[in-house]
Amino acid sequence: MTTDTYKTIHVAASGSYDIIIGDGALACLGERLHALVGNCRLALLTDSNIDALHGAAMMKELTAAGYDVCKYVIPAGEESKSAENMLAFLDFMARNRLTRSDALVAFGGGVVGDLGGLSASLYLRGISYIQVPTTLLAAVDSSVGGKTAIDIPAGKNLVGAFYQPRLVCCDTRLMDTLSSDIYRDGCAEVIKYGVILDAALYDKLHTLPFDRIDVVARCVEIKRDVVQEDEFDNGKRGLLNFGHTFGHAIEKLSNFEVSHGSAVAKGMVIAAKMAPLFGLADVEKPLTALLEQYGFDLGCPYSAEQMFDVILSDKKRRGGNLTLVLPRAIGNCDLITVPVDEVLVKLKQVI
Ligand SMILES: NC(=O)c1ccc[n+]([C@@H]2O[C@H](COP(=O)([O-])OP(=O)(O)OC[C@H]3O[C@@H](n4cnc5c(N)ncnc54)[C@H](O)[C@@H]3O)[C@@H](O)[C@H]2O)c1
Repeated sequence: MTTDTYKTIHVAASGSYDIIIGDGALACLGERLHALVGNCRLALLTDSNIDALHGAAMMKELTAAGYDVCKYVIPAGEESKSAENMLAFLDFMARNRLTRSDALVAFGGGVVGDLGGLSASLYLRGISYIQVPTTLLAAVDSSVGGKTAIDIPAGKNLVGAFYQPRLVCCDTRLMDTLSSDIYRDGCAEVIKYGVILDAALYDKLHTLPFDRIDVVARCVEIKRDVVQEDEFDNGKRGLLNFGHTFGHAIEKLSNFEVSHGSAVAKGMVIAAKMAPLFGLADVEKPLTALLEQYGFDLGCPYSAEQMFDVILSDKKRRGGNLTLVLPRAIGNCDLITVPVDEVLVKLKQVI
C-alpha cells in the first residue's frame, strides 16, 4: 500500500510535516520512515492497553521495514504522563544507546503523544519523532500542532514544549477497539471544531455514525490552519480552547472522575449560555441537542463560586483578565477578553 491511498494533509509550521489519514494507514509507515529518517534505530513508546491490542501489528510493520526497535510500555492512564515516567523513558533510550540520528515513535492516545513528544524534544537536545495516534482525540487534536507536555503535582500540562513531529500517521482502523466512552470523548473535540470554525462540519455531525476519515481529515485541516497562523499560542490558537476553561474546572473539581471529553461538552454548553450575556449569539439550544445526540450528560454539578475558584488558577489567565472563547454563530467563535470578576458574575447567571 502506498501513501497515495490515504488522505495527506501538510503542515508548514516551525517544522513541516505530513499527516496521513486512512483505514490501514499503518501499512505505509515503514516506507515513510525510510524517506524521512532513513535506516536508523527506533524507540517505540506506547501504553499497556495499546500494546496488548495493537503492539504486535506495529512491531510487525516496523521490523518488516527493516527497523531495529526498542519498545517502552507505560501503564495506560493520565497518571503515566509524569516526570518519573519521562525520566525513566529517557534513561531507557540512553541505555539502548539511541543517537541523535535515531527516532521515536509515539504510538497511542494523547498521553503517549504528549509524553513522547516532550521526551523527543529533550533527548540529546532533540531527536525526530513520529506520532501514530490511536484515539479519536489524539487523531483530531493532540497529535497535530506540536504541543507536548507532562503533568506535575501542581497541575496538568504545566511542563512542556512546542516541538513538531516529523510525521503523523493516523490509521483510523485502530480506533475500532476504542471503548464507546473514549470514542465519545473525542467526539466532543470534533463538535468543538464545528462550533468554532466550520458550520458545514457541524451540520454533518448530525448524521451518525459520521464518516470517520472525512471528519478526522477536516478537523486536522482546521487545526493545521490555526497552528500555521499561531503556532506558539499567542492568539488564534486560543479558539481551540472553546469549552475548555470551564471544562478544565469541572475535570479538576471532580478529581478527574469526569472525563476530559465529558467536561469539555459541559464547558461548551456553559460558554454557549454565556455568549448572549456578552451580546453574542445564542446557540445553546442547537448545541445542547447535538451533544445530547452523542449521549453527553450536560449538567454542571458545581456552583459558580467553586468553578470560579479553579478558573482563577487557570494557566491561561493573564493578570486580572481571562480570555473566553464565545460563539458569534455556529462555525464562528471569537476570543473575548474580560476581567476575571465579570466571569464570576456571568457564571452565577448561567449555572
Ligand atoms: N498536545 C495537545 O495539543 C493536546 C490536546 C488535547 C489533549 N491533550 C492531552 O491528551 C491526553 C488525553 O488523550 P486521550 O484522550 O487520547 O487519552 P489516553 O492517551 O489516556 O487514551 C485514553 C484511553 O484509551 C486507551 N486507548 C488508546 N488507544 C486505544 C485503542 N486504539 N483501542 C483501545 N484503547 C485505546 C488508552 O490506553 C487509555 O486508556 C491528555 O493528557 C491531554 O492533556 C493534548
